[in-house]
Amino acid sequence: MRKQISPATSVSGAIQLPGDKSISHRYGMLAAIAEGATKISNYSSGADCQSTLGCMRALGAGIEKQDSTVCIHGHGLDGLHEPAAALDAGNSGSTIRMLSGILAAQPFVTTIGGDESLSKRPMARIMTPLGQMGAHIEARENRFPPLTIHGGKLHPIDYTLPVASAQVKSCVLIAGLFADGRTTVHEPLRTRDHTELALREFGADVDVDRLSITVTGRPRLEGRELRVPGDLSSAAFFLVAALIVPESSLTIHGVGLNPTRSALLDFLAEMGAQIKILDVSSSGGELIGDVLIRKSPIRGGVLEKARTAALIDEIPVLAVLGAASEEGLVVRDASELRVKETDRIATIAENFRRMGLAIELQEDGFAVPGKQQFHAAEVDSFGDHRIAMAFSIAALAADGPCTILGADAASVSFPEFFDTLQRVAE
Ligand code: S3P
Repeated sequence: MRKQISPATSVSGAIQLPGDKSISHRYGMLAAIAEGATKISNYSSGADCQSTLGCMRALGAGIEKQDSTVCIHGHGLDGLHEPAAALDAGNSGSTIRMLSGILAAQPFVTTIGGDESLSKRPMARIMTPLGQMGAHIEARENRFPPLTIHGGKLHPIDYTLPVASAQVKSCVLIAGLFADGRTTVHEPLRTRDHTELALREFGADVDVDRLSITVTGRPRLEGRELRVPGDLSSAAFFLVAALIVPESSLTIHGVGLNPTRSALLDFLAEMGAQIKILDVSSSGGELIGDVLIRKSPIRGGVLEKARTAALIDEIPVLAVLGAASEEGLVVRDASELRVKETDRIATIAENFRRMGLAIELQEDGFAVPGKQQFHAAEVDSFGDHRIAMAFSIAALAADGPCTILGADAASVSFPEFFDTLQRVAE
């Protein structure tokens, strides 16, 4: 799908966003191995989270959907059954990596794969710890999907993550639910803690001691009622839109403000953004609030080390903000960007080139000079949802209409993106 986006003079009004993608995956998976009914409201409408539901249904969970509310009937830790066919994780790294933690413990063999992009993403990072727990996993070239997982009885491990990855941490903790004893994961940096919070909500025993997380195996997980906060990573596109389009003032209601995700707001505020947070509450251990933002001059900045990891999903749209800022943006320590849905350093750079924007590349990052004029161009999502949305936002500040090729990729995390953009951009 091609989408034309015209330059805007203001991004204003109030919006609400679909449920957080990361939290939706976790609630969907844990509900299917809990006992009884779980009602999840504001479940993500994104295709990735629908892939998770499709897999859990194929494994025997009862799933009913009405709009954004999903009811899942689980039959406990031992209640899944062998799927009739290979599981399809679509474009979703979170689905294949976290669900592998469940599949590794099943008394049957499962194959799980996905689309062309997913088939190029590294899986050794989960195969190693699951192998140590006792699972046997075959993969294409020993590291790529599809995975064939020979599940069985798992034993607990004490595992130090070689890469800071919430998906890998979650995979091991979820597998630990099925092992007799305590499974511990040590992280090099604090990554998003939605799994820890969700596990506690469902009744598991989770201890957190700085960067070490321990789960006790064989808990009784119980179905419950949950609400997914709006997705802060989806909000990022609109926050940046309001910062680069002249007459902007935007309110985003009900956004997830979990401290392991909200580094985005601190970074924007440090660079000069006028941001207010109102009406903070909590649900399922997750913070939620309204975010108000006004057009403000942005200085620019440097992203490195822990901050890069905390903002990894927001970097495509922050690159766009950097080019519009006073002093530009430098991103370091971001080699993980090379193994996302696309090699995002390469796809950001290609679209910058098409829009006439300067960018200097490194193997693990880039530098974008500030005060740049965005030129009308035909840009491409390259099938990556965050690239589609980041460059749709860039188009709002261009000197003429832009075309986004493969714009439908946005629906992987945010199917309502273009409708929402049309409502607030003038
Ligand atoms: C996610 C973790 C991050 C992030 C991804 C979602 C999660 O990946 O980029 O979009 O839900 O745990 P890594 O854990 O691979 O860094």
